[in-house]
Amino acid sequence: MAKLYINEKNQKGHINAELYGNFSEHLGRCIYEGLFVGEDSEIPNTKGMRNDVVAALREMKLPVLRWPGGCFADEYHWKDGIGPKETRKKMVNTHWGGVTEDNSFGTHEFFELCEQIGCKTYINGNVGSGSVQEMSEWVEYMTFDGESPLSELRKANGREKAWKIDYFGVGNENWGCGGNMTPSYYANLYRRYQTYVRNYDPNHPISKICGGPNVDDTYWTEEVLKTCFENAPKHVHGFMDGLSMHYYVHPGCWENKGSATQFDEKTWYQTLAKALYIETLIHQHSAILDQYDPEKKIGLICDEWGTWFDCEPGTNPGFLYQQNTMRDALVAGLSLNIFNKNCDRVKMANIAQLVNVLQAVILTDGPKMLLTPTYHVFHMYKYHQDAMLVDSYLEGVRTIGEEKEVMVPNLQESVSIDQDGIITITINNLSLEESENIEVSFTELSPSKVTAAILTNKMNEYNTFENPDNVKEVVFEEFKVTDKGLSFIIPACSVVQFRVK
Ligand code: AHR
Repeated sequence: MAKLYINEKNQKGHINAELYGNFSEHLGRCIYEGLFVGEDSEIPNTKGMRNDVVAALREMKLPVLRWPGGCFADEYHWKDGIGPKETRKKMVNTHWGGVTEDNSFGTHEFFELCEQIGCKTYINGNVGSGSVQEMSEWVEYMTFDGESPLSELRKANGREKAWKIDYFGVGNENWGCGGNMTPSYYANLYRRYQTYVRNYDPNHPISKICGGPNVDDTYWTEEVLKTCFENAPKHVHGFMDGLSMHYYVHPGCWENKGSATQFDEKTWYQTLAKALYIETLIHQHSAILDQYDPEKKIGLICDEWGTWFDCEPGTNPGFLYQQNTMRDALVAGLSLNIFNKNCDRVKMANIAQLVNVLQAVILTDGPKMLLTPTYHVFHMYKYHQDAMLVDSYLEGVRTIGEEKEVMVPNLQESVSIDQDGIITITINNLSLEESENIEVSFTELSPSKVTAAILTNKMNEYNTFENPDNVKEVVFEEFKVTDKGLSFIIPACSVVQFRVK
């Protein structure tokens, strides 16, 4: 038996809605087919955007979307993606399958998509192969409302009013695909490029994201921060609002990541142990950030995370298409609880990627669409967005798994309270065999209204276009309201959500 103590009176910090963000790159079938089919498509669409996908993302309450990459961002030249579609310049997508990119989805289409979804915008600029002028003109084209050659060009292309950019990334993975730079070289470029990311709208300043480390590369974090803070006025806090970090979970080695659907119990625990490791990474990089930014003005931005397995047999290896099982659901559930619990420093997270790529929330096949187990977790967790993290403690957690390096806790949770005083509890049972009896107690609250949902199945079950509801969020009714809180049995291999008033 485990006990979950919740001190709803102790609010520990604001959970930015952006922790539930996503990422869409010009990669495989994410943008083309997955999100954008063009106005002439037989697939129902609005201005080229798939109606089914947009409706699902609205229902999931997607708060922010990152675009156009990833590695693609540092090869993207924005002017190729504006103006009449017939005359847009084509390019080779060298990173992702060597396919021809026709640039029919560009700046105007991205903002249209975000408007339809109702989400914030996160644009990633090109440092690797682009100039300062190109980046600065892109920002002017998008956000300047006065009269200038670039705002006139935007108007000539059909958009009168300036758009709003919420976040702007200055380069991507510049230690690797974004130019193979050293940290101090990149940091100097960052200082220079970000200077020309102008705030044309003083009422809506752009949050600037500096390219941060890969996984545990604390040398990168330290060197970049050192250079960015060198002789910088205190109030500009290193010229950045956020520092990114990328971390992908794969149970095997990079060359052999393993199948997304065919795996054994040991691999299950190994994957979940690797998912939990993101909390160590957050603490490592946060400790360095704390030295430069003790007031926590700079957010740690986990703008690429999630599972990365071998792509589905028979699909283009450059398209990174993978299936999504209960294992992905648990990786999502654990990671989101960790982001919630570290909301003092983690200000945005963008799972990779939105549709048809890596740990997608949606898969499509022609006109068909399915929601993955990961989608259902995001849907169940959406109530944490913009809520306050509250103090919670699980007593009686056991360590389970198979060998030393694949041991994990059997239970993991996070708890928040929203503006209406409704408490959301999200709790995961990582065990493949054992359900667990849980007694929940609140400090003061006596629950008067409780609803709950559950996602559960066998570890490698997933949804197919023939059986799209095999793994699905359903109402959970097997709980009792007690004097002090709640009592329930959480089944093995499950994600459970409670809403308590
Ligand atoms: O998400 C796929 C790729 O992973 C991105 O393009 C890149 O930034 C990372 O290496």
